[in-house]
Amino acid sequence: YGTQTINDQGHLTIGGTDSVELAKEYGTPLYVYDIQLFRERAKAFQKTFEEENIAYQVAYASKAFSSIAIYQVAAEENLSLDVVSAGELYTAIQSGFPKEKIHFHGNNKSEAELRMAFEEEIGCIVVDNFHEIELLKTLSEQLKKPMNVLLRVTPGIEAHTHDYITTGQEDSKFGFDLINGQADRAFHDTYQHEFLNLLGLHCHIGSQIFDTAAFRLAAEKLVGKMSDWKNEFDFSCPVLNLGGGFGIRYTEEDEPLEPAVYVKEMIQAVKETSAAAGYPVPEIWIEPGRSLVGDAGTTLYTIGSMKEVPGTRKYAAVDGGMSDNIRPALYGAKYSSLIANKANEAATEQYTIAGKCCESGDKLIEQADLPAAEAGDILSVFCTGAYGYSMASNYNRIARPAVVFVENGDHQLVVERETLHDMVKHDLSYKKQVESK
Ligand code: LLP
Repeated sequence: YGTQTINDQGHLTIGGTDSVELAKEYGTPLYVYDIQLFRERAKAFQKTFEEENIAYQVAYASKAFSSIAIYQVAAEENLSLDVVSAGELYTAIQSGFPKEKIHFHGNNKSEAELRMAFEEEIGCIVVDNFHEIELLKTLSEQLKKPMNVLLRVTPGIEAHTHDYITTGQEDSKFGFDLINGQADRAFHDTYQHEFLNLLGLHCHIGSQIFDTAAFRLAAEKLVGKMSDWKNEFDFSCPVLNLGGGFGIRYTEEDEPLEPAVYVKEMIQAVKETSAAAGYPVPEIWIEPGRSLVGDAGTTLYTIGSMKEVPGTRKYAAVDGGMSDNIRPALYGAKYSSLIANKANEAATEQYTIAGKCCESGDKLIEQADLPAAEAGDILSVFCTGAYGYSMASNYNRIARPAVVFVENGDHQLVVERETLHDMVKHDLSYKKQVESK
């Protein structure tokens, strides 16, 4: 992936740095991000919009990986930012991210979170439900502050990795249903409001999607709805946000398309549907998360104990596991790996890569073809940049790993490894009262 190669010592290098040296310097488990690759991915999306000569915003869906440093790089690359909680918004503000390019998502934003969005004067709020509309009206009137809003709708398209289905009425906790009048009601509730500035519609149809058909269908449905409103109420929404979900290659089995292909197909669908309806071509916004950071991330582990179940399998255990990557245990997600200090050696063995958590299901890879492994080897697991660190936990009171950015031969610590002290820092003692109160 990206800038990865093998050096004279047979070590995996990332961003011009020796991964075995990184493991030595920062310890393991360690998340390593190839920042050049992140920048290239961002530019690939942006370039396609520019070539197609269409107004756009590419917002980094930062639930995939949220930290001050990645927000700084996102800002350098002129990305907008999708945040989904006060925590992500706070991180963005601490990073100095341009507030007018922050979009706030979520199906149950609290009043405090919405107030924060007004006070910080962020770019827009993606409104999910009627409760939120009421909160926004009250807050904006109280604060006498304007806010751009998009309405999130559920278009009734369910995209799976290899195919998609139209489910009429999709059962989803997110957004206003397009077909039973909810979206129309939300439109009426917002489009003439004194402080709420309705920009348009949003949808997100799924994640790790490999084809373009579902995006096309979503574009057609949403442009269709916006053009109905224009015809009936003479109000044109200037923006269409088609969400994220572009697939990436975790293993050889995955066959995603290039970012440009998804974007081109979306733009064509929007242009065609707009032309047919006599609707002005809206600005197109997208929100990739995984496809910006996924393959930029590699996790380095140290192999420790090994076990053979005769006739069945060999286990190689690493010093992390479901605490730093829950995806295999939660979704059955597959990953590929390499022994970073034996990157030139042929794979002669098959191992199940186990984590160190007290749970049988804590396996990172079921069948990893590797050279003969021994304790002390550095295992690199690829494509862990999205939903790895961001979904990490302290299960078993395991400290979260550090994060390092590498680029052009340089390496920098951007998130410190948690310490044992961090494991108890919010704990308070309990003292039994002798006398009852
Ligand atoms: N926009 C919205 C409104 C979303 O809900 C999401 C992801 C994205 C954008 C970014 O999607 P992406 O481009 O990253 O596929 N934890 C799961 C993924 C959950 C995705 C949730 N929403 C995983 O590890 O696969």
